[in-house]
Amino acid sequence: MAGPVLHTPVCALLGIDVPIFAAPMGPAITSPELASAVSNAGGLGLISFGGCPPDMLRALIQRMRELTTRPFGINMILEFPADALVDLCLEEKVPVLSFFWGDPSRFVERAHRAGAKVIDQVGSVDAAKRSAGAGVDVIIAQGVEAGGHIAGNVSTMVLAPRVVDAISPTPVIASGGIADARGLVAALALGAQGVVLGTRFLATPEANAHPMYKKKVLESTEEDTVRTTMFGYGWPNAAHRTLRTAFVDEWLSNEARGSEQRPDEPVIGETTFGGKRLTMRRFMGFPPGADATGAIESMPLLAGQSAGLVNEIKPAAEIVRELVESARRIIDDQLRGYTEPRP
Ligand SMILES: Cc1cc2nc3c(=O)[nH]c(=O)nc-3n(C[C@H](O)[C@H](O)[C@H](O)COP(=O)(O)O)c2cc1C
Repeated sequence: MAGPVLHTPVCALLGIDVPIFAAPMGPAITSPELASAVSNAGGLGLISFGGCPPDMLRALIQRMRELTTRPFGINMILEFPADALVDLCLEEKVPVLSFFWGDPSRFVERAHRAGAKVIDQVGSVDAAKRSAGAGVDVIIAQGVEAGGHIAGNVSTMVLAPRVVDAISPTPVIASGGIADARGLVAALALGAQGVVLGTRFLATPEANAHPMYKKKVLESTEEDTVRTTMFGYGWPNAAHRTLRTAFVDEWLSNEARGSEQRPDEPVIGETTFGGKRLTMRRFMGFPPGADATGAIESMPLLAGQSAGLVNEIKPAAEIVRELVESARRIIDDQLRGYTEPRP
């Protein structure tokens, strides 16, 4: 990659140039266009896949290969069946398998034999130890300020160094609350070797999020998200962070209702899932895609506290470039100045 360098050991491990990961925002918010833009800019694009026939995964991998020759990863949520998907990824020589919400230990040996690296996103020191102990190559420590589903209770500022201390020398990547170079440098200072950005990459032309959803992210401050289990239709009792819309405010005192998965919840619109139109019922956990219709603001507008730092829509490659350039300025100029002797 031409351009400024920001290299940590995890870059060599994964074959990337800069330690910036695009979060796998499911089911389809991180599009192949977004993930490949980040991979092409020298980072690592991760794409979430689940709940669809394996043939669709094959097509998705092919699409990624059309868009990039750089490493990328497929993310699977272990709340849902993943064995067949893992087999297919390995058969297709996907460079990186990324897991969330469960124990990926059983996949590690198979993945390594096939030449793939394994990443697991965790929300606690215990889960990090479990996965690192099983040979997972890279652990993502996800703080509670993160957008989307959140695995733990601890902020990134505390969790990242705790995980680093617990599993060193396994590389740790920080996730949650990071949207600019200040967060990136802070994460490196905490001992992380890189960062995952979700909410920041949601506000890109490449993200497959509904325009209204992107607009709401831009308008929101760090105060405007909430951790809830409300959108539990399809994935009950699983905490997630979402924008605090009028709909969320209305139901927050009765958030358990969403996990009851009542088949007669009213239809609020449609979105595309797995190439088909999906009828969205109230409390369903699918964030609205670019072509969603209906009551968009009653759907889960998943986003993290870092929404407060996200004020404009920018191409993903530009975000990666700015992150690296500004991080270098902070490290080389600003921080160095603090340790220079006083005259
Ligand atoms: C809309 C959205 C969808 C997400 N979906 C997934 C997913 O499918 N799999 C996963 O591992 N993480 C998912 N996450 C969580 C991200 O991996 C990451 O932890 C989070 O975005 C980091 O916090 P940030 O949004 O402040 O950058 C999602 C996050 C968002 C915002």
